[in-house]
Amino acid sequence: MLNERLDLLADYPFSRLANLIAGLSPRSNETPVVMSVGDPQHQPPAFATEILGANADKWNAYPPLQGTAELRQAIVGWLERRYRLAGGTIDFETQIAPVAGTREGLFIVALLAVSRAKNGATPVALMPNPFYQVYYGAAVMAGAEPVFLTTTRETGFLPDLDAIPADTLARTAIFYLCTPGNPQGAIATREYIAKAIGLAREHDFLLVLDECYAELYYGDAPPPGGTEVAHAMGRGPKGHPLDNVVCMHTLSKRSSAAGMRSGFALGSPATIQALNRLRSYSCAATPIPIQMASAALWRDEAHAIQTRALYKAKFESARRHLGGMAGFRAPEGGMFLWLDVGDGEVATKKLWAETGIKVLPGAYLTKNERDGSNTGKPFVRVALVHDLETVDRALARIAKVL
Ligand SMILES: Cc1ncc(COP(=O)(O)O)c(C=O)c1O
Repeated sequence: MLNERLDLLADYPFSRLANLIAGLSPRSNETPVVMSVGDPQHQPPAFATEILGANADKWNAYPPLQGTAELRQAIVGWLERRYRLAGGTIDFETQIAPVAGTREGLFIVALLAVSRAKNGATPVALMPNPFYQVYYGAAVMAGAEPVFLTTTRETGFLPDLDAIPADTLARTAIFYLCTPGNPQGAIATREYIAKAIGLAREHDFLLVLDECYAELYYGDAPPPGGTEVAHAMGRGPKGHPLDNVVCMHTLSKRSSAAGMRSGFALGSPATIQALNRLRSYSCAATPIPIQMASAALWRDEAHAIQTRALYKAKFESARRHLGGMAGFRAPEGGMFLWLDVGDGEVATKKLWAETGIKVLPGAYLTKNERDGSNTGKPFVRVALVHDLETVDRALARIAKVL
């Protein structure tokens, strides 16, 4: 009775982690700290929750699936500021679709992009390895063959675009690319993004840029995004700069508002129209009070600047405590440390048993290579999602144990 593709969905990394540490109890009497999950533990700014409260009379109505004009205009205002685009570059009427968190958007775009066959063969979904689990789930449920692109220190923690075989590109229907990346925090350059867009146009697939960490960066300049690169490249094959490109953004990280489930997709009018059509058959529209609070969050920069400064301070703390470790690398963006600890599962068990700190083995985010090896195996992912003091103390405990 059940779709046999469900069998392809392996255990989500967090169930594997629960199994790994089942039966181990922390020997220390310090408070356990969960650093395995990427849920920001700070609060969104108070004005957002005040808007939710003040608009409690609007829960009766079905919300507009395509988003209120206020929300879409606020999003376009943010995109223009963030990517230094001239006013009017993006049309709020036709190019923005709100999504109930980018998780939903990332899943549903696979159904848009993957047809029964591509050039007479099974369509391919390209994704980095390690990868955000939803890319894989979306790919297999849409009937695509997931193809994993190794990302290691040698590739700059981004897929090597020159290494994708021509016969794979010919079958590619969708390519998920995350910048800044989860888990390694690498940032794609303008040239890199332009090359990926070029491939998408040449081979007519959808490039999905998961830019949900776009506001968490620690260098001087904000990371480039698909929006600005596509516009700089000019019109695509169907006459629009965003042909073959969708960019996904969220308030979950920028505004520490993961519980609001509020993000958006930006694309060409044709893509956004198709996405809205598909979503009207399948997805939950974002409630009106949440759309109102979201609009206010996209309009406000002050809290995003504060949030970035807070993460920056946490990564400075990481450098102080762990910078001397051979496997330490400070990420360019995002909210994770990707630490080479020799064996991620062994270190995860040790950290939990000896000091009550829960991290995630890198192998749980990484598919095995064809030869059976796993490039994530030596790593653990540590989410710096708590307040600065908690993170600072937890990192000191990690340093002591490792
Ligand atoms: C790489 C990546 N993409 C997308 C998401 C989904 O974010 P949300 O659905 O909260 O917008 C996450 C969440 O952790 C993520 O790490």
